[in-house]
Amino acid sequence: MNAHDEPAETPVPTLEVGALLPRLDRGEKILLLDVRNEEEFEAWKVEARRPIETIHVPYFDFIEDADASIAKVPRNRDVVVLCAQGGSSEMVAGMLQEAGIPSANIKGGMIAYGLYLEPVRVPLTAAEAARYEVWQVNRRGKGCLSYVIVSGIEAVVVDPSRHAPWYEGFAAERGARIVRVLDTHVHADHVSGGPPLARKLGVPYFVAAGGEFELRQPVTPLADGQEVRLGGEKGVSIEMRVISTPGHTPGSTSFLVDGKYLLTGDTLFVASVGRPDLGGHVVEWGHALFDTLKRRLADLPEETRVLPAHYSGTAEISTENLVWGCLGDLRRTVPEMQIATADAFVEALRGAVKDPPKAYAEIIKVNLGAPATEEKISEWELGKNQCAASARKAAGA
Ligand SMILES: [Fe+2]
Repeated sequence: MNAHDEPAETPVPTLEVGALLPRLDRGEKILLLDVRNEEEFEAWKVEARRPIETIHVPYFDFIEDADASIAKVPRNRDVVVLCAQGGSSEMVAGMLQEAGIPSANIKGGMIAYGLYLEPVRVPLTAAEAARYEVWQVNRRGKGCLSYVIVSGIEAVVVDPSRHAPWYEGFAAERGARIVRVLDTHVHADHVSGGPPLARKLGVPYFVAAGGEFELRQPVTPLADGQEVRLGGEKGVSIEMRVISTPGHTPGSTSFLVDGKYLLTGDTLFVASVGRPDLGGHVVEWGHALFDTLKRRLADLPEETRVLPAHYSGTAEISTENLVWGCLGDLRRTVPEMQIATADAFVEALRGAVKDPPKAYAEIIKVNLGAPATEEKISEWELGKNQCAASARKAAGA
């Protein structure tokens, strides 16, 4: 055998995140081997709708003592190997394969997990469904929710992640073209895909910054109470009402689709409310949020369906695989909604918020229009959102 005749390495099967998650959701017996370092593993884990059996053996352990590390992996299981970007895990999966343990590499690792988008259709009444569709797009790795509303041959995208081609493709599959892009607020936990998507398509983009925020990109303003029409086909159209809901940020805006489906951004979640502390004005913004929740949203009927921009964990996902709630129920169950006075509300939130999300200041700057490299954005976006301020439990900016 000469140098060119080395035995071929056993190919390592790969698994896309989009193929893995549904299997984990169904409760398939898969063992997840996480080979990231301790700090990365503790900070951010893969979650599914059922508990995941996970073992953690860092990659460097495999390098230092391969036999001892391989011995920690059960032999009679289907193993999938996970790391930050899919490189170390591919090597470990290869070592396991050679040791006779069936294993697959999760392509792209936690980066791919953090980018994966899952569209879930909101069930509408037959009369509503004849006029429009509402899709909740779940960015599962981060707990970020965006929305695609389709009516006739037109679509509006709300709070898009930075995956412009995905939204374009999704709307096209629904037989529609995106005619407007909206952000509920200047996000602090993820870089908005709104401006690039709107620029690429040449359609209006809206976000309201407010306060001291200085927006450095073009925006088509929308006024509180304004109705935005969507449709484009004769006889098929809906209205989306713009509702100014300051508090989480001074410019936070909610959108009421067809008088019933309220896209609240980070104003109201299904188990908590948005944190008002990220601008250094927790008292002022906290009072604004109290006024929004108690007065500005007071006229909306109990049956209004709340569709937020974030969630904190799988417990907030309904049996329809949606993160949503009835406004009437949330008025009765969200702890912060029970607080009677603005001062007590602000005190409770002040006590409940934890550290600001990592890199939130940089992310806000990008969302106001500052340039940043793809590499930096990827780094800043690592990890779950921390947008909620909950008096019951710290959650998700
Ligand atoms: Fe936010």
